[in-house]
Amino acid sequence: MKILIAHGPNLNMLGIREPNIYGSETLPSINEKITQHALSKDVEIECRFYQSNVEGFLIDQIHQAFADGFAGIVINPGGLTHTSVALRDAISAVALPTVEVHLSNVHAREEFRHHSFIAPIAIGQIAGFGIKGYMMAVDGLIDYLNK
Ligand code: DQA
Repeated sequence: MKILIAHGPNLNMLGIREPNIYGSETLPSINEKITQHALSKDVEIECRFYQSNVEGFLIDQIHQAFADGFAGIVINPGGLTHTSVALRDAISAVALPTVEVHLSNVHAREEFRHHSFIAPIAIGQIAGFGIKGYMMAVDGLIDYLNK
């Protein structure tokens, strides 16, 4: 099965960006760990990785995943989590099972990070476990798809 792993704005800055909050791992290194994790699963999984700082490019990529017959999406929408009706509509439009991931525990941070436009249409949200959250999201998505 094919899975889109989408990273939103500023996640290309991981490693440099507020390491006390987001850790010291870079995005390429995180993607490599997700690949290794996916390879360790019993089912065959192909991950497509995508990062953009542009809302519309992320939306295009979600549409593309649908057109390409992808099974599901793991997305860290970054700051767009808290602002983007359009990103939520894109996920609703393709109706692909989607897991929302945050490195930090957004619920323990500033109030404006407590609301997610994505969570109500996601199959689940994982927040606060650092990069392990991506592995948990992949596992949760696979379990969901195998049900
Ligand atoms: C984030 C949390 C968001 O509030 C923030 O805007 C990010 C990163 C996280 O992974 O913890 O860019 O999604």
